Amino acid sequence: MAETTVIAFDLYGTLLSTDSIAKQLEKHFDHAKAQSISALWRRYQLEYTWRLNSMGVWENFSAITRNSLLHALADNDSQLSDDNIEELMRAYDNLSTFADVDPTLTRIAADLSIQTVIFSNGTKTMVLNWILRSADLSPHASVFRDVVTVEEVKQYKPARACYEHLAKQTGQDPSHMSNLWLVSGNPFDIVGARSAGMRAIWVDRMGVGWKDGATDLRPTAIAHSLEHALQEIQSR
Ligand code: LAC
Repeated sequence: MAETTVIAFDLYGTLLSTDSIAKQLEKHFDHAKAQSISALWRRYQLEYTWRLNSMGVWENFSAITRNSLLHALADNDSQLSDDNIEELMRAYDNLSTFADVDPTLTRIAADLSIQTVIFSNGTKTMVLNWILRSADLSPHASVFRDVVTVEEVKQYKPARACYEHLAKQTGQDPSHMSNLWLVSGNPFDIVGARSAGMRAIWVDRMGVGWKDGATDLRPTAIAHSLEHALQEIQSR
């Protein structure tokens, strides 16, 4: 029998587009300001995870998401009411999926040699909410054998412990990770996975090319879509 290949999909920026939040912000701000707040919100969200990792401090991803929104608003000399903040947080539970998610998950469902999981910084409650509420993702919920989050590790990606946790949760030996693939649109996540010994496909939908210079680690392959990422994995 063929060996099982484990594919772990990152969530934000890979299956879900965080850009779609800008439309929600346009209810309150003009287009340019909404774009600026949305981009800064995401940047602070990630920056906060890395800063907390460095300090050895844990705060859950929902709190980080809220606090980073407040920071992005303050940087834009803007404020919103508590109700509007709640509405934006709810919008975060309803982010749009990228168009290539549906056909890719349909193909994966037909390949019994692939074990698929979601691997995210989000809390388990947040991730399960996304899967069940999203009109695009919910029909595919059964494709995902598991949702692996970093809550039990209390560290965020790209800490090595997160990738070792993923290996354990998917029944892989953490000292032999090459059967484990990450598919992610986030370069820092790709580098974290490669550093831990995994194989990793970077999804470069915009075709901007690999620029990350934090280390000399590179993705195993670069794909322009999730379907292309799946082809790369299936061809190896
Ligand atoms: C996640 C972030 C990294 O879903 O996008 O884990």
